[in-house]
Amino acid sequence: MKVFSGARREAGSRGGEDKVRLVMLGPPGSGKGTQGEKLSDRYKIPLLSSGDILRAAVRAGTEVGKKAEAYLSRGELVPDGVIVDVMTVRLKEADCKNGYILDGFPRTAGQANALGGFLKNNGLKLDAVVNLIVADSELVGRLSARRQCSKCSAVYHLQFRPSAKQGVCDKCGSALYQRDDDKEETIKNRLTLYKKETAPLIDYYKGMLINIEGKGNGSEIFERICSLIERK
Ligand code: AP5
Repeated sequence: MKVFSGARREAGSRGGEDKVRLVMLGPPGSGKGTQGEKLSDRYKIPLLSSGDILRAAVRAGTEVGKKAEAYLSRGELVPDGVIVDVMTVRLKEADCKNGYILDGFPRTAGQANALGGFLKNNGLKLDAVVNLIVADSELVGRLSARRQCSKCSAVYHLQFRPSAKQGVCDKCGSALYQRDDDKEETIKNRLTLYKKETAPLIDYYKGMLINIEGKGNGSEIFERICSLIERK
């Protein structure tokens, strides 16, 4: 795969050969959003977070938001049909023409098959699937202290990645909030569902998997991910 790091490439100069399509896999709290944000900055491609898209739909009170709201608050997966429609519409938008990073999608075998079908019909393929490995004991602590921007969705942590000014996003100055599903009982439910529905995708994508130990310094994890992507 031809991938150029941000440092070696002018923004917007990506040609037809160096498009990058990545999937971020890993349990809730493993750092898919955190690392996805950094990858998006480096490769100048959008981060498409299915969770952020659904939360925005709930806030806006759209039909999708009304269908998804109860699932999100219980930490359950929204039905495949709903999320597949939402994501395939998003994938056709103009900013996806040079690639993207999928965070939180696909999450079931049905969704992975639907994504595969979409890519095939459009003559495209994934370049790599980044699988972040973090133990359950670490995940609960991460999620219960996570704070997220209400406007741009930037992710913080009260200890590991605090904002410069408490409760205010460094990037856009909007208020930070705690997600409804970041409560201990809901987190447990999300972890159980991850193991049942999403972990089997590790095997599904085994030919293109990049396994990364997701515990430790976030910048070091990021550099490891980039070097493995660029070797692919
Ligand atoms: P979604 O928003 O996708 O949540 P998730 O997959 O549970 O993942 P998270 O966002 O919780 O974690 P993350 O891995 O991105 O970690 P983060 O970088 O934030 O989905 C929410 C809900 O939407 C689902 O439950 C479901 O209802 C619905 N949904 C979404 N997609 C769906 C789909 N495809 N099908 C059906 N339903 C769907 O990091 C977490 C915290 O850890 C942060 O505070 C961060 O600062 C901190 N952190 C990150 N890295 C480190 C590190 N190295 N060391 C210490 N702390 C760290």
